[in-house]
Amino acid sequence: MSQVLVASNRGPLSFSLSDAGSLTMRRGGGGLVSGLAAVTGAPDPPEPPGTEASAPEVLWVCASLGDADRTAARRSPDGRLDLAGHDTGGAAVRMLDIPAGTFHRAYNAVANSTLWFVHHLLYDTPRSPHFDARSRRDWQSFEAYNAAFADALARDAAPGAKAAIQDYHLSLAPRMLRDRRPDLKIVHFSHTPWAPPEYYRLLPDDIGTQILLGILGADHAGFLTERWASAFLDCCELLPGARVDRTARTVTRSGHVTRVGVHALGVDGKALRQRAAEQDVVERARTLREQVRDRQLIVRIDRTELSKNIVRGLDAYRELLVNHPEWRGRVVHLAFAYPSRYDLPEYREYTAAVQRTAEQITDEFGTPDWDPLILQVNDDYPRSLAAYGLADVLLVNPIRDGMNLVAKEGPVLSERGCALVLSREAGAAAELSEDALIINPYDVSQTAETLHRALLMPRRERSDRCARLATAATALPPQTWFADQLATLD
Ligand code: G6P
Repeated sequence: MSQVLVASNRGPLSFSLSDAGSLTMRRGGGGLVSGLAAVTGAPDPPEPPGTEASAPEVLWVCASLGDADRTAARRSPDGRLDLAGHDTGGAAVRMLDIPAGTFHRAYNAVANSTLWFVHHLLYDTPRSPHFDARSRRDWQSFEAYNAAFADALARDAAPGAKAAIQDYHLSLAPRMLRDRRPDLKIVHFSHTPWAPPEYYRLLPDDIGTQILLGILGADHAGFLTERWASAFLDCCELLPGARVDRTARTVTRSGHVTRVGVHALGVDGKALRQRAAEQDVVERARTLREQVRDRQLIVRIDRTELSKNIVRGLDAYRELLVNHPEWRGRVVHLAFAYPSRYDLPEYREYTAAVQRTAEQITDEFGTPDWDPLILQVNDDYPRSLAAYGLADVLLVNPIRDGMNLVAKEGPVLSERGCALVLSREAGAAAELSEDALIINPYDVSQTAETLHRALLMPRRERSDRCARLATAATALPPQTWFADQLATLD
């Protein structure tokens, strides 16, 4: 029985399976892992003896994302993984063995093709919403997937325990859990933006309603910025039977009150700097330095994700080279676009569009001794950290983003101080707008001119701004963010 439970689609670990059938465990990504250390009695730095906080036992419930994960889940007694030697911030991990078809429909068809599209305003005319009998079947899988989480949490929670349920994949789970275990205290946290009501209404009425009711099953609904929290309240105002109090920031329905709060997420500066000092990062920095030589460096780092706006970012770089030819031969653009959600055709097409645009830029401007653009598509975390260190300009231009941690990690690791060109549609802009150069992500020409301004920024101004950005970025590390979520339940 656990006092604190965390639930998320992607957990702190993933597995791969060899041909001989043996499993290899890898640490999964994400700020949640370090955030958890704050509540699992793994203080950092170590406290003097006798001052340790008593550690509640934390259980992290996650989905098995592929065949290897499912095999691991089946081989684990009672579903709990043997974590020997793996750092999960001290949490026990239960990986749910959700049937492959159910997972595919819940994760790909509903969570990533529908809810993600709605909250990031990604629908366009060629791909406009079309909800038919098949969508209803997908929805049933989404319900079954959420119910599997609610069952696991209900089974393992100690009386009165706290459950922190993460993100849009699990928007039905809070209500399902409350129905099963009314004694628990539940928080739901959205890591994405929230759609404005007129866009949210694209969803079929019953589905839109169920999602709101699902989250309102929690005692507290958390968002990364004021803007997303406020959009959620706007949607709740249209929900029959719900009473929204904008001053108290509560939604009351059927006698149950849900508080709505804003909890920004920053980076753990110390942990990030320690990681960046390791040998693999140092080696990659050396290679990058040889490639770039004494030229200025514009860096971007993203999943190849429609909302990250990579193609317009590359178009802006092209416009910079056209309108300001003085930069030719004097600047390099390093674009890391890591594979993501490749099961979805939109993401495969987008990846191809990114590659095509990059090739055109190289063909148009490249010379025997100058590569204007280096596009890397294979995921390499240490290389990303090395690139942050060397960047003169960091480009973060999503059309919409819950927070965007690249905008926060870059300034922390920058060696000489980098200028941050940041979309006003990223949640991070709420905290970083004073020292970042803010752009409209749809305005390619403005982005190009802002890159020009960033490249021209005097060294001193660049490093002063960067230092202030790093301070803002580390003000709310994951530990604080996670502890805040739990504290809302006291
Ligand atoms: C966003 C979501 C996360 C998700 C991540 C990567 O940040 O808020 O929940 O884990 O994207 O996406 P993926 O589909 O690979 O988990």
